[in-house]
Amino acid sequence: MSAGSVLVTGAGGMLGRDVMRAAAARGVEATGMTRSDLDVSNQVAVAQAVANLAPDVIINCAAWTDVDGAEEHESDAMVVNGDGPGVLAASGPRVVHVSTDYVFDGTKDGAYVEADPTGPRSAYGRTKLAGELNVMAAGSQHAIVRTAWLFGVEGNNFVETMIKLALDRGAVSVVDDQRGCPTNTAHLAEALIDLALLPEAGGIHHCAGEGETTWFGFAKEIFERTGTACDLTPTTSDQFVRPAPRPANSVLAATRPDTPRLPAWTKGLDDYIEARTTVGGQR
Ligand SMILES: NC(=O)c1ccc[n+]([C@@H]2O[C@H](COP(=O)([O-])OP(=O)(O)OC[C@H]3O[C@@H](n4cnc5c(N)ncnc54)[C@H](OP(=O)(O)O)[C@@H]3O)[C@@H](O)[C@H]2O)c1
Repeated sequence: MSAGSVLVTGAGGMLGRDVMRAAAARGVEATGMTRSDLDVSNQVAVAQAVANLAPDVIINCAAWTDVDGAEEHESDAMVVNGDGPGVLAASGPRVVHVSTDYVFDGTKDGAYVEADPTGPRSAYGRTKLAGELNVMAAGSQHAIVRTAWLFGVEGNNFVETMIKLALDRGAVSVVDDQRGCPTNTAHLAEALIDLALLPEAGGIHHCAGEGETTWFGFAKEIFERTGTACDLTPTTSDQFVRPAPRPANSVLAATRPDTPRLPAWTKGLDDYIEARTTVGGQR
């Protein structure tokens, strides 16, 4: 099936750039708008963009992603993460909206499934949950795609942070009591395009790298797979307090047969390591 044309918002971000790359590779007609092109919370500007471009689908990658900053600036984050998705969903085209594991409280024993009760513990999580609810309330066709622990060649990410710390200090402590699914944005971008092509796959989807690990386990694989020498030690969240609480459990499971499955997170890491030296040659 054809997606017709796609408008990608937040197209200057880590995920947005990979979505534009995936669309181009698959011959999907896509227009990318960065924050300076289109503020997703500006109803007039969104209406104008939709009138000009007449997209069939909007893939919303725009967000306030400063998780700690949102604790102090929740109302500013709410405008982008809460109001913006509602404005897009009310503008007419179908919306594929990206959300997060932070909508959950992180206390569940097993993996979170789509229907699990939400209960965000951070300002960022509350704003992202508001975005989901506003998309649903708009009453138009939509898919809400929760993901987690993103890393991609177009953004600052955990892989680069670990490599830089290892090179600068030779030793690093990483928390071993938060579990999640590291997700390569190039893989997620493919799933978002798949969902843009599948109008019947509405509602909530969980799309994250297959399998799970802790941040410590992720760091260990990064050092092993890049051949980076580093004295790595596990630590706990209470030794590494930050303004916003992090979920102890961010593991997302997909139970719907129509949710595109992502490759294993270790494959995501391998593909990232290959791409970081070739895509744009920026690392
Ligand atoms: N990163 C993760 O680990 C993670 C995990 C789970 C879910 N997510 C979700 O994944 C999505 C993509 O995140 P990302 O990692 O690609 O973040 P990112 O690199 O920060 O990209 C977000 C983009 O949105 C733009 N933006 C901010 N406010 C905007 C506005 N009012 N209108 C239009 N654009 C605006 C930002 O522009 P500026 O840079 O100019 O502000 C940035 O280019 C988000 O929905 C995020 O909540 C991320």
